[in-house]
Amino acid sequence: MHDAHNKHSSEKPITRREMSRRQFLSYTLGGTGAFMAAGITIPMIRFAVDPMLQPSGEGTFVKVVEESKITNEPKSFKFQIHQVDGWYESDIELEAWIMKDDKGDIYALSPVCKHLGCTVNWNADPRYPNQFFCPCHEAHYTKDGKNMAVAPAPLDEYKVKLENGFVYLGKVQPNQHVTK
Ligand code: FES
Repeated sequence: MHDAHNKHSSEKPITRREMSRRQFLSYTLGGTGAFMAAGITIPMIRFAVDPMLQPSGEGTFVKVVEESKITNEPKSFKFQIHQVDGWYESDIELEAWIMKDDKGDIYALSPVCKHLGCTVNWNADPRYPNQFFCPCHEAHYTKDGKNMAVAPAPLDEYKVKLENGFVYLGKVQPNQHVTK
């Protein structure tokens, strides 16, 4: 009985050592994981809490052209936006067709065809005068951006802001000009 007790008590420290090794490993791995997760999470929290760090394009407007250059005839203008996507920052060139409607209000359409994303042009096909035309599968749209064939939806439009004689463009949104 003595022997059995001794044997039992002599095994105890070994079991404890094995446990503590395992615990050590799990603390180490857990600690590394937490450190890596913090590396990912902290920049996300910074974007969430600090409006200055939010990706541009959300509520920001870019100066594109003088208001006086805009007529009833759609004209194409290119402009750049600075985009921040996580750690990746880039300058992207965008295009807008800017014009006045019948009331004289300035609006700007996206050139991205709502069929499969090719680029539309104004007055580019003699069969569809004074319309936007997509060369890929022949979708065409009215000056308001209304889809006449092939494409399932009207051309999107940019948010427009007029300030100090300049046209500023913001986010792309669903078309507001097409009257159903
Ligand atoms: S992408 Fe424009 S018609 Fe198909």
